Amino acid sequence: TNPTITIDGPTASGKGTVAQLVAKALGFHYLDSGALYRLTALSALRHQLALDDEAAIAQLALNLPCRFVGEQIFLEQEEVGNIIRAEEIGNAASKIAVLPAVRAALLQLQKNFSAPPGLVADGRDMGTVIFPDAEVKIYLTASVAARAERRFKQLISKGFSANIQDLLQDLTERDARDLNRSTAPLKPAEGAFMLDTSDLTIQQAVELVLKQYEQ
Ligand code: CDP
Repeated sequence: TNPTITIDGPTASGKGTVAQLVAKALGFHYLDSGALYRLTALSALRHQLALDDEAAIAQLALNLPCRFVGEQIFLEQEEVGNIIRAEEIGNAASKIAVLPAVRAALLQLQKNFSAPPGLVADGRDMGTVIFPDAEVKIYLTASVAARAERRFKQLISKGFSANIQDLLQDLTERDARDLNRSTAPLKPAEGAFMLDTSDLTIQQAVELVLKQYEQ
């Protein structure tokens, strides 16, 4: 097996940014598992499926025609890296992520990202379900206020409109779905290093993760 670092935590905790920088520093591959749920949600919406049509959405997830090329993300031939960051797609992703058959359908696709020289995997269940044998497991959190602010800045920088009040509401709802679903609810993996980034810069968080790996 390849060296693996898992970074799990709630929505908008800054996992994605930290995970990508850790991967870059180590020359490792990067798995953005949230992107797979977002791609599945986008595909479901385009096929006009109801977001609780478990069998049909699982079928889409099983044959998800996606490709990751550097920073670009393709669904079929279309580059959708920006489109899937929309809050609407995030909310849809959060809804389909509670469906056990959808999670099962994405299992192998996620495992396939493991390759030499190593992997940094970012999500909700990377350390608990997908890569339980990972050398280093991180549980990354931040206060609700810090997360709403990060999501706000991220959306604005991508050209979306946003307001903090709506984002706080979205965060609370997504947290509830992540924590309460029956399959792979969000929780720290056993032995996870708990990292609260509310008062840390990105660089400080990255260095703390790298230090865990080097130990
Ligand atoms: O950070 P945010 O929640 O906006 O998005 P994300 O990390 O891109 O993930 C999108 C959705 O997929 C989340 O709301 C999670 O509920 C779900 N997800 C999951 O269930 N399991 C994962 N390993 C990754 C994401």
